Amino acid sequence: MKIAIIGTGNVGGALATGWSKKGHKIFLGVRNPENFKGIELLSLSNISACPIEEAVKLSDVVVISTPAKETINVVKSLGDTTGKIIIDTMNTVPKDTSNLDSSTTETILKNTQSKDIVKCFNTTGANNLLDPKYGDTNLDMFMAGDSKTGKEIAKQLTFDLGFANCYDVGGNDKFALMEEFAFFWINLAMFQKLGREIGFKLLKR
Ligand SMILES: NC(=O)c1ccc[n+]([C@@H]2O[C@H](COP(=O)([O-])OP(=O)(O)OC[C@H]3O[C@@H](n4cnc5c(N)ncnc54)[C@H](OP(=O)(O)O)[C@@H]3O)[C@@H](O)[C@H]2O)c1
Repeated sequence: MKIAIIGTGNVGGALATGWSKKGHKIFLGVRNPENFKGIELLSLSNISACPIEEAVKLSDVVVISTPAKETINVVKSLGDTTGKIIIDTMNTVPKDTSNLDSSTTETILKNTQSKDIVKCFNTTGANNLLDPKYGDTNLDMFMAGDSKTGKEIAKQLTFDLGFANCYDVGGNDKFALMEEFAFFWINLAMFQKLGREIGFKLLKR
């Protein structure tokens, strides 16, 4: 797959690392190709960097992992997203970004041409995106959105990182719930002081 990653920090960097190893072609969409967080990713195979609009043009899938307060600016910088699948990994932290909707994904949906928008990869720490393996058990991932095609692709991309399964939480009306679920992880990891080496697994019988 050809994947543009906008936001090349903790999350974007972990995703680029995992997917490039699986042979995906990664285009880091950056504001300044000479100086950006994660510039060391360029030493890995299958990863290159270019201006944001160019990265989007070159790709089938666009992943956004910038700070939530930048959502509008980032969406405006994407250019034409017709026919692209957009995956939103962001969370509105802290919850005081008054220019946003109930979730960053709602804001993206309202301000771009693509209707194939999925929220995924936001409910766990970047450390788990880099390595979802806990002993013999691999963590699960979760996703939401109306786009069937978008969710099929997001699910495949979670498997490519090593997640055991990716559960479908529902449609676009579940974007905000996905952010709440992320806060559940953040609360346990940070405020309840369990640390970042924790993750979610769904049990069934
Ligand atoms: N950290 C986690 O464990 C985690 C887990 C799940 C979800 N999230 C969510 O994922 C998102 C990213 O978190 P992070 O920890 O990866 O952030 P981060 O390490 O601070 O990286 C932010 C990235 O966004 C880029 N950026 C900022 N403003 C931009 C703009 N206007 N246009 C284009 N790029 C811009 C920065 O580019 P420069 O290099 O040019 O500064 C940087 O590459 C956040 O919404 C966060 O809530 C984080």
